[in-house]
Amino acid sequence: MSGRFYITTPIYYPSDKLHIGHTYCTVATDAIARYHRLKGEEVLFLTGTDEHGQKIEDKAREAGVTPKEFVDRIVEGERGVKDLWKLMDISNDRFIRTTDGYHVSAIQKIFKQMYDSGDIYKGTYKGKYCKPCESFWTESQLKDGCCPDCGRPVQDAEEEAYFFRLSKYADRIRHLLEDTDFLEPRSRVHEMVNNFIKPGLEDLCVSRTSFTWGIPVDFDPGHVVYVWVDALSNYITALGYDNDQYHDFDRFWPADVHIVGKEIVRFHSIIWPAMLMSLGLPLPKKVFGHGWLLLDGGKMSKSKGNVVDPYILAEMFGVDALRFFLLRTFPFGSDGNFSNEALINTINVDLANDLGNLVSRTTAMVGKYFGGQLPAGCGATGEERELAAACAAPGGAVPFLTAAEPEKFDAELIALAAGLRGRYEQAMDQYAPHRALDEVFQVIQRANKYIDENAPWVLAKDMEANGARLAHVMYDLLEATRICGVLLTPFMPGSMDRLFAQIGAPADCRTWESAGTWGALADTAAVTKGDNLFPRIDLDKALAQLEAAEAEARKAALPAVEVEPQLTEPVDFDTFCKSDFRVVKVKDCQSVKKSNKLLRFTLDDGTGTDRQILSGIAMWYKPEELIGKTLVAIVNLPPRKMMGLESNGMLISAVHTEHGEEKLHLIMVDDAIPAGAKLC
Ligand code: MSP
Repeated sequence: MSGRFYITTPIYYPSDKLHIGHTYCTVATDAIARYHRLKGEEVLFLTGTDEHGQKIEDKAREAGVTPKEFVDRIVEGERGVKDLWKLMDISNDRFIRTTDGYHVSAIQKIFKQMYDSGDIYKGTYKGKYCKPCESFWTESQLKDGCCPDCGRPVQDAEEEAYFFRLSKYADRIRHLLEDTDFLEPRSRVHEMVNNFIKPGLEDLCVSRTSFTWGIPVDFDPGHVVYVWVDALSNYITALGYDNDQYHDFDRFWPADVHIVGKEIVRFHSIIWPAMLMSLGLPLPKKVFGHGWLLLDGGKMSKSKGNVVDPYILAEMFGVDALRFFLLRTFPFGSDGNFSNEALINTINVDLANDLGNLVSRTTAMVGKYFGGQLPAGCGATGEERELAAACAAPGGAVPFLTAAEPEKFDAELIALAAGLRGRYEQAMDQYAPHRALDEVFQVIQRANKYIDENAPWVLAKDMEANGARLAHVMYDLLEATRICGVLLTPFMPGSMDRLFAQIGAPADCRTWESAGTWGALADTAAVTKGDNLFPRIDLDKALAQLEAAEAEARKAALPAVEVEPQLTEPVDFDTFCKSDFRVVKVKDCQSVKKSNKLLRFTLDDGTGTDRQILSGIAMWYKPEELIGKTLVAIVNLPPRKMMGLESNGMLISAVHTEHGEEKLHLIMVDDAIPAGAKLC
């Protein structure tokens, strides 16, 4: 098998940390890219970051850094975008940042080329702008007066701007969408045609003058290129189009597939092909719009505070378990509800129970009954190889199986495992990784049933009579496991390496070719029972741990120290002097019954009569640790009743917030200062 395959993910906005939704998209793309590499194709897998636009400019200003410093931190910094992809074992061949010099100059050339051809012209932009989405909308496109993508309010906008003649391409785009399989799943075609094409495609505003963080239009200073024109072009600039950084354009363009989330299908299936038509370039072969991972039925977003941190999940459950869960659970073209319970259950049922048990039972039995190596000659028979070849042939159906038990069990397992590669390939080629995984797990489940059908522990009781049969059963289990392992490699690369080591499968038994061949594993392979590939997880314990880790992460994301802003309204000196601050000594301090906030102080204020003050500081101090301390109180506040007790004054403390948590410190002064001393 040969051929080239160019696959891309959307390039991410580094405006916030990435969450599990972004991870889903990249992991899916990675599994598809790895699948094509497994098939022997020359793959170019591109990902990157989309770093311009007003949102980033605003965020950088808020953070007090330049936009470049801001994006550098999120892209290259600790636990940034690149770190996350490394952790998730993402095998991208190239990473583009739209602030890379070669991309910037290529965009200027692309913009000029479209201007020179008359497809970009200057006009006045009047309309609505959604700042968070960086999208322009016409009145008719708004949903209840708000952005149709995110539902947030839009702003009026009017300025001199460049426009792209999108309207000119309407018919060709409609044909592309309706009459070809350019855009999948098919449901997205209806969305695009009904919502955007039928109402009439308007020309697109492609430059901005109201902010500067973008690629300058070099022939008209003051204008920056609309961020989507800049971003979409990454798919060709990263190959070397209009630049000398790379030289792969002729080899890899057109792309085989752009994998994108459903909300950006419009840009990829309408604007991007029109731009390419304008540039006279071939169109990508496919755009696949996957669904969203939802939380409690809604979209994850930083502003809703409901994002799930992939770092926490990967560190707790393992990268491969997380990758697997994302692709096994949610049909790729549809939305799915993410939950920690579902994640843990999938790990327990599919990975620990089905796959993990198959591997550990099989390797343990080969160890126990055969010392880790099966006898030569116990492997696939000629008949079995023939059966497998018939089932594996393209369009090959399972022949009617006539064998009697126990050979019938062998034939069923072999037929199912031998046809697996074909069924898997079909699902993967239709961008249905969840179906491909389902096929693999049917074989895994069948293999587990095969163990029970053959009851090896019964056979082992009489090795002289049953040794050969037992060895053949073990071989079939190893071989079925191996084939599943090869096809699971794109999903869980690290764990499958460990699986292959345990069943003794060398490199030539890990190939695509070998996944379609029953009997590729040597019958005398060295089998070792290693650690459990996927240990079982205690649901309740893990949920509690996750909650604590997520709370900790949320806290850590808040500013380390925050103090209240200073008041700017002046207070005149005489008014200030009316407040009587005195040094007081704590004679006694008690908790107040039924209150978890209040402490009751008996204080020496220098007057000779004890003063009682109630203070809501029980969260920070134990009563006994305050006895004998020298504090400061304001003593001329009117008396106040709390929990039926009278408080005469207020103790002075300093407050601030640390990672979102309020901290309080009573002001304590030198014990040498006598009670009653006035503060002035
Ligand atoms: N910068 C643009 C893409 C430009 S491509 C030329 C962008 N970036 S993004 O960071 O906002 O989103 C990147 C991808 O993550 C999109 O495909 C988006 O659909 C996907 N996801 C973001 N949240 C998601 C979920 N909750 N679930 C699934 N995918 C989601 O858009």
